[in-house]
Amino acid sequence: MSNKATLEINGNTHELPIIAGTENEYALDIKSLRSDTGGYITLDAGYKNTGSCESEITFLDGEKGILRYRGYSIEELAEKASFLEVAYLLIFGELPTNKQLERFHSDIRKQSLVDDDVKKIVDAYPRFAHPMGVLSSLTSALTAFNPSSVNVDSEEDMYNAIVKILGKFPVLVAWTMRKKQGLPLGYGDNTLGYVDNLLKMMFEKPNEEFVHNKIIIEALNKLLILHADHEQNCSTSTVRIVGSSHAGLFASLSAGISALWGPLHGGANQAVLEMLEDIKADGGDTKKYMAKAKDKDDPFRLMGFGHRVYKNFDPRAKIIKKSADEVLGDLGVEDPILEIAKSLEQEALSDPYFVKRKLYPNVDFYSGIIYRAMGIPTDMFTVMFALGRLPGWIAQWREMRLRKEPIGRPRQLYIGKTHRPFKSIDKR
Ligand code: CMC
Repeated sequence: MSNKATLEINGNTHELPIIAGTENEYALDIKSLRSDTGGYITLDAGYKNTGSCESEITFLDGEKGILRYRGYSIEELAEKASFLEVAYLLIFGELPTNKQLERFHSDIRKQSLVDDDVKKIVDAYPRFAHPMGVLSSLTSALTAFNPSSVNVDSEEDMYNAIVKILGKFPVLVAWTMRKKQGLPLGYGDNTLGYVDNLLKMMFEKPNEEFVHNKIIIEALNKLLILHADHEQNCSTSTVRIVGSSHAGLFASLSAGISALWGPLHGGANQAVLEMLEDIKADGGDTKKYMAKAKDKDDPFRLMGFGHRVYKNFDPRAKIIKKSADEVLGDLGVEDPILEIAKSLEQEALSDPYFVKRKLYPNVDFYSGIIYRAMGIPTDMFTVMFALGRLPGWIAQWREMRLRKEPIGRPRQLYIGKTHRPFKSIDKR
């Protein structure tokens, strides 16, 4: 197989090197296209065909429905690993030994205090603020409380920044929710596991003993693992591109949280639940909503369906659907919207519109049903996604800095007015 592709422009040929990945994927290297061709660039709205980097972190085959972190299949990790083990794997490249994991967790615990002054910032937000806006802004505020920049050439500096954010982020998540509910803002219990501690920080009431629920801890552990990385999606690309200007880790993460918030990305989990509630309130007529989703004059989309990369089942959705059944059964929760979701899925999978466009349920379709069964408010769903995605964002940011990638700065094709003389205001 040739390792070059040939491009012909106005009778001139240009050779483009072909780069191979480790999973039989190939890329045309267009690094010198513009200089070699006298100014030609490629146009690819939404970057549907554009690779922004070479990465060793996550492999995704959207046609076959495969997702692997550092070579390990998502199915095995969700079944057998803890969220912190997966975080370590994503960030540092290998599964930790017992000793490495203990040290990692202990260092994260040591960083689990947030400056008490941050509470004043939380207090200043109105109760009606969306938790994602609050979380993004609190993450950004951490830069003010931790102003020293990370020396990315120092392994120790990098490690300290990583354990710092992994320690403080769950506190910010809990405070974001508690502020809305008028609950006091506290700190966790460092004798607990990472996920157990998060749940305690979120749900503990000052006048009641907190009850640890193994089913909820395990289900949340699985959900966080399933969300932990997804290669160059919108929020991750945001984190990498912000970081490429050498902005700090916390600032880059804050930008990633904002990108995740949108309903076409992480915000879809909230949108799915709201859609299912609307269908229920409207008499549960799923066919009516299927018709709306297919009507090109109707802006309605079936939220939780379709994916830029998966043209087959999203492997995460398969695991979450099974888990939704188990968790609701184990907790003894009967939620009629689970049945509505299953009917919608059934209809979509045999509907020619969805079949032709290869639209399958994605990670967000069933996750909200589990979050709701755990008692997590709907507008906190995307915040939970952000917590899950945190290790992925960190791993991608670290990789980008260690590979010394250049600043991200796309080109454009200008289609505006050509040069014209200025007209003074009285002549316009
Ligand atoms: N309902 C109805 N039609 C859809 C849907 C949907 N959910 N998704 C895509 N389509 C149609 C779309 O109208 C288009 O039709 P046509 O070819 O006739 O113009 C075709 O399918 C291709 O869609 P697209 O918008 O060009 O595809 P995309 O790769 O740009 O968008 C997507 C991917 C995820 C933004 C889109 O499928 C969508 O809006 N889904 C609903 C929102 C959602 O569930 N987002 C979560 C994504 S997974 C988690 C994450 O990324 O955070």
